[in-house]
Amino acid sequence: DWIMGDYIEEAVARIREQVGNEEVILGLSGGVDSSVAAALIHRAIGDQLTCVFVDHGLLRLNEGDMVMDMFEGKLHAKVVRVDASDLFLGELVGVSEPEQKRKIIGRLFVDVFKAEASKLKAANAGSQGASFLAQGTIYPDVIESGGAKSKKAVTIKSHHNVGGLPEQLGLKLLEPLRDLFKDEVRELGVALGLPREMVYRHPFPGPGLGVRILGEVKKEYADLLRRADAIFIEELRNWIDEATGKSWYDLTSQAFTVFLPVKSVGVMGDGRTYDYVVALRAVQTSDFMTADWAELPYGLLKKTSGRIINEVRGINRVTYDVSSKPPATIEWE
Ligand code: XMP
Repeated sequence: DWIMGDYIEEAVARIREQVGNEEVILGLSGGVDSSVAAALIHRAIGDQLTCVFVDHGLLRLNEGDMVMDMFEGKLHAKVVRVDASDLFLGELVGVSEPEQKRKIIGRLFVDVFKAEASKLKAANAGSQGASFLAQGTIYPDVIESGGAKSKKAVTIKSHHNVGGLPEQLGLKLLEPLRDLFKDEVRELGVALGLPREMVYRHPFPGPGLGVRILGEVKKEYADLLRRADAIFIEELRNWIDEATGKSWYDLTSQAFTVFLPVKSVGVMGDGRTYDYVVALRAVQTSDFMTADWAELPYGLLKKTSGRIINEVRGINRVTYDVSSKPPATIEWE
């Protein structure tokens, strides 16, 4: 609409003024905030923006290709895709404690991004030199880092953020979404031409499937989980609730599949199977601090479990998580 159109024009003008003819580097994750920031900055300065997309090997099915199709293919933005999956999976061998996994993934992420940003900075040095690091920080992040969070006595889960990175890289900070709430960021994304499915996607944790594979992370597990999860999400998107006309994907705040590295016995055809288990998790929440498990239609659960067990060889049992937060958390790790 025209209000958002005006907002975009003003934001574009502000970015152009701030950046001048210098270069900008942005870490693209595929999440809503970094995607909208990238689209907005690209609208303002085009090829002066370079996006760095680090694939840690713990993304969802086809996620990397989808990010590249959108930003490189459709928006024609400069995107450097870094396939670091071997590095991440290598460093995670033998590690099963959730916080330790988070720390390793967070540290590697910063290392890989820093190396890439330094390369770009050096490559641009001949011209004006890269001198901005763009981040998709939104207003709630600004408030949160203002101390409200640090008052908590215990950290349940450490969320890695990239604080301090601009200083370390010798780059100035560009945060064009700093004044916006999440729903405004989404509206902006749509107005900038990003697909609704991308802009209204459920949140996905930074450590990705690393905290959805319980215990030690293995590529074999990640591959099975990716396929099972894609089926669950597809069914949630296809299943329309008659009363509201909305899909169950839109009726839930977050939904995903968890890989349990235990085997159970099943029967398929005339044979016995001894395969892995997955759990489906779907919650409804307004703030993610508390959450109720979603009362998904039995038909949806039935179709999903049937498809997973038939289509993903290696998984022979599907369970549904009926735990609310608290005392459970949304993610299993
Ligand atoms: P929990 O599991 O603590 O999750 O109930 C609350 C919300 O936070 C997300 N989450 C994370 N996000 N890095 C992130 O960026 C993390 O390490 C992380 N752990 C949990 C979770 O997906 C949910 O939306």
